[in-house]
Amino acid sequence: MSRLQAEHLYKVFGRRPEEAIQRLEGGADRDELRADGTTAAVIDASFTVEPGQIFVVMGLSGSGKSTLLRMLNGLLDPTAGRVLFDGQDLTALTAGELRAVRSRKISMVFQHFALFPHRSVLENAGYGLEVQGVPRAEREHRATEALALAGLAGWENSWPDELSGGMQQRVGLARALATDADLLLMDESFSALDPLIRRDMQDQLLQLQKTLKKTIVFITHDLNEAMRLGDRIAVMRDGRIVQMGTAEDILVTPANDYVASFTQDVDRSRVLTAGAIMADAAPDAAPGTAPGGSSGEGPDGASARDVLAAAPAVVPADTPIIELFTPCSTSESPVAVVDDRGSLIGVVPRSRLLAVLGEPMTPSAAPAAARTARTTDADADDQGVAKAVARA
Ligand SMILES: Nc1ncnc2c1ncn2[C@@H]1O[C@H](COP(=O)(O)OP(=O)(O)O)[C@@H](O)[C@H]1O
Ligand SMILES: [Mg+2]
Repeated sequence: MSRLQAEHLYKVFGRRPEEAIQRLEGGADRDELRADGTTAAVIDASFTVEPGQIFVVMGLSGSGKSTLLRMLNGLLDPTAGRVLFDGQDLTALTAGELRAVRSRKISMVFQHFALFPHRSVLENAGYGLEVQGVPRAEREHRATEALALAGLAGWENSWPDELSGGMQQRVGLARALATDADLLLMDESFSALDPLIRRDMQDQLLQLQKTLKKTIVFITHDLNEAMRLGDRIAVMRDGRIVQMGTAEDILVTPANDYVASFTQDVDRSRVLTAGAIMADAAPDAAPGTAPGGSSGEGPDGASARDVLAAAPAVVPADTPIIELFTPCSTSESPVAVVDDRGSLIGVVPRSRLLAVLGEPMTPSAAPAAARTARTTDADADDQGVAKAVARA
């Protein structure tokens, strides 16, 4: 069962929302409704989030992200559609039941995290537990643990104004972690931070996620952030989800020009991986390797050995290509890409590395990756490419 499931969610602000939904179902867009003073904030959003996944919703300001998020935890009632949390229909709960789910199972982290200025960092981190009625001793114990997870061990007795903006945001994260909620909803949680601190927080979230395995819905207007964090990404435009997929799906096969325009700003060298861009390891693709085969191995085995021996680096398929520049600059031989058992599965020559940086990658630009997937049709080729791309 999916942890979270959105089924044909709509949120319309303004008069006669039911009528607006009929028009939207008939294909009307946001602009047409706006003429009547009605805002279609979210239009027909459907998706599932699996336990332990980070699901990112990416879109420009006003595209409907926050409205969507507020429907996911029941803060806003959908105009139409359902939200299922662990199979339970949130839209069918009473106000009291909903409050209980929200305080125990769902935590929110906002962009501007409001700390209580006259409470210690520890008390701030334990606030969610206080709301739940957890006794003081347990509250302090769990808040201390959560602060340590968020990288704030030793700051328990400080006051909020003694912390930098990034540290205050960590307190927000700690508050969410302390509650033990399964579902974290993060609305532009890192957007107000300086780029370096922001990257730090992204790293920390990914690190935490390895052990905590929460289910996270993360909202951002930044595609680079989306691609670093998201197991899956939904791109929103004017209230609608216009594409949903992995970082590599979006980078490799943007659904339309709108999505493609975002991907131009993405740092390909951190999103694309060796496995996604590698060429076949056949001798013609790897000049300088001699077919051999003296010790009973076939010619393939022998040339693979030569390729591996000559390679300036031997890397797993999920290595971001940014790590290949230095080895490629020191040798004419291509970098060798190997599987879990160390067998050669492809090579990255310098020319290929440079070629993929400038251009949007099309499936045909990665024949080796596609062939590795042993697929025939174009769709499946995309998956072959996609599988080989990692997070930035
Ligand atoms: N309470 C509200 N009443 C009227 N319009 C709203 C309300 N909340 C949001 N909107 C409108 O819905 C659209 C989506 O807003 P929002 O979900 O906040 O987008 P985002 O989080 O992507 O910036 C915007 O046009 C916004 O003005
Ligand atoms: Mg918002």
